Amino acid sequence: MRWRSSHLPLLLVLLLSLLTLTPAKSESTTSEFRICSYNIQKFNKEKAKDYRMMNTLTRVVYRCDICLLQDVVDPDGSVIKALLKSINRYDGFVYKSVSSKPLGKSATDMQKYVFIYREQTASVIGQHQYESKPQVFTRAPFAVHFQSMKTRVNKFVLVPLHSDPAQAVQEMNQLYDVFETVTKLWDNLNVMFLGDFHAGCAYMKKTDKKNIKLFANTSFSWLIGDKVDTTVREDTSCPFDRIVVHGRVFLKAVVPYSAKVFNIGRELKIQRKRVRKMSDNLPVEVRLKSSALLLQATPLLFLLGVVQLLRSL
Ligand SMILES: *[C@@H]1O[C@H](CO)[C@@H](O)[C@H](O)[C@H]1NC(C)=O
Repeated sequence: MRWRSSHLPLLLVLLLSLLTLTPAKSESTTSEFRICSYNIQKFNKEKAKDYRMMNTLTRVVYRCDICLLQDVVDPDGSVIKALLKSINRYDGFVYKSVSSKPLGKSATDMQKYVFIYREQTASVIGQHQYESKPQVFTRAPFAVHFQSMKTRVNKFVLVPLHSDPAQAVQEMNQLYDVFETVTKLWDNLNVMFLGDFHAGCAYMKKTDKKNIKLFANTSFSWLIGDKVDTTVREDTSCPFDRIVVHGRVFLKAVVPYSAKVFNIGRELKIQRKRVRKMSDNLPVEVRLKSSALLLQATPLLFLLGVVQLLRSL
């Protein structure tokens, strides 16, 4: 092989694309943006002391850019502090949290909504505790306005709901009011609802759907379908945990068919009884498309460079 000066531009292209390729790969296994939701029943001090459970939860959260945790029993914030410590002990992403106050109708069952998010890819630009009179919700949604330059929508609102099973239908219907409130508040129509809605089995029948505005109105897309099983137990199959997005713009920013249950047992090779010790529910997740078109094009550029170089030799 003889060196020809005509190779120089090609080599440059190769070198350049390699340079841009490397950080994209090391930053994350995928350049997409993952949003997760997990009802981790009674996540309290006792659970936080269970080293193996914390380790599993750390692995669950670390996959996500934003992870909503529900049923967090943490009046003084020490439980989430311990979880963040466990997540941030790695020399990688840094995670932060934003929490509601303890919510509930009975003093013995007060729960927080907590969003854990990656500092490198997401930031909080607003938060709002929804209130209505009369109060329909047992734990009214704590909406958070997020910004992420990594996603195509850039700014979006997450509305969590862990419903009371006995009034799941009324609470899901009331989400439309929350939608109207937060879209006005932040002038943003990109709204995602997520959480354990109890949207199935005994708590929501097919005939209840017409009484839920988010079902009746086609502007809202239910990404986790009615046939999905979000429970851990083998003898139950219920689509309790859901993800719903509003509008075409947001829907187009979602990776098609990426909304799914994260089966902790199968994916992380953990026994079912240990998974159940954490919660009866499994996490659900969805991915948003990356805004970085250049990064997506880089591997192609690299390939073209190689082909050209080989042809010219
Ligand atoms: C459905 O929701 C949208 C919000 O995007 C609203 O503008 C529209 O009026 C609603 N449609 C009905 C039939 O309520």
